[in-house]
Amino acid sequence: MEATNHITWHHSTVTKENRHVLNGHKSCVLWFTGLSGSGKSTLANAVDYKLFQLGVSSYVLDGDNIRHGLNRDLGFRVEDRKENIRRIGEVAKLFVDSGQIVSTAFISPFREDREIVRNMLEPEEFIEVYLHCPIQICEKRDPKGLYQKARNGKIADFTGISSPYETPDDPEITINTDQITIQQSVEKIFSYFKEKQIL
Ligand code: ADX
Repeated sequence: MEATNHITWHHSTVTKENRHVLNGHKSCVLWFTGLSGSGKSTLANAVDYKLFQLGVSSYVLDGDNIRHGLNRDLGFRVEDRKENIRRIGEVAKLFVDSGQIVSTAFISPFREDREIVRNMLEPEEFIEVYLHCPIQICEKRDPKGLYQKARNGKIADFTGISSPYETPDDPEITINTDQITIQQSVEKIFSYFKEKQIL
């Protein structure tokens, strides 16, 4: 592409490893994926709260919020969702480079797009957390009333109804959010951190 000519990469003086030592923990992406209403934002925030209390540098990138700012130009057609996830992948990578644990809460319905993000990062830095919840239950929860609107034909390309969701093949963590509590889900994620010596 024309615009990328004559641009060279400038290596940081302070490295990611230096930041890990300063912070006393590693950095990674907790990539939450699942249907709308499966609990991504709730769980991402619950994990973030616990990390904060422990003095860990962390942050949440949330679909609904990012779509108000950085990605306000994107809709829900396939190409827009791909671009949404590509940008979030790049932002998440910056957070990892800055030494933080970043939780991303995006439906991210396409396997290929999630794999692209995985491949942007080092192995072990991308932790795919699949929030499994039957669509009937997500639809019953319907916290934003969007399923009802989608059923009434007021929202096009709605995930699970008129747009597909591709389940992860081999996620690092799977949580059945209709079967365990938020607290138990948080603990499951912290057990993973411990097992992988991230904290
Ligand atoms: S993604 O598919 O591109 O990853 P993202 O997570 O950013 O989606 O945004 C999903 C959120 O946007 C949902 O939680 C919901 O509140 C809202 N939304 C609005 N329209 C749609 C739609 N057509 N499909 C899914 N979510 C939608």
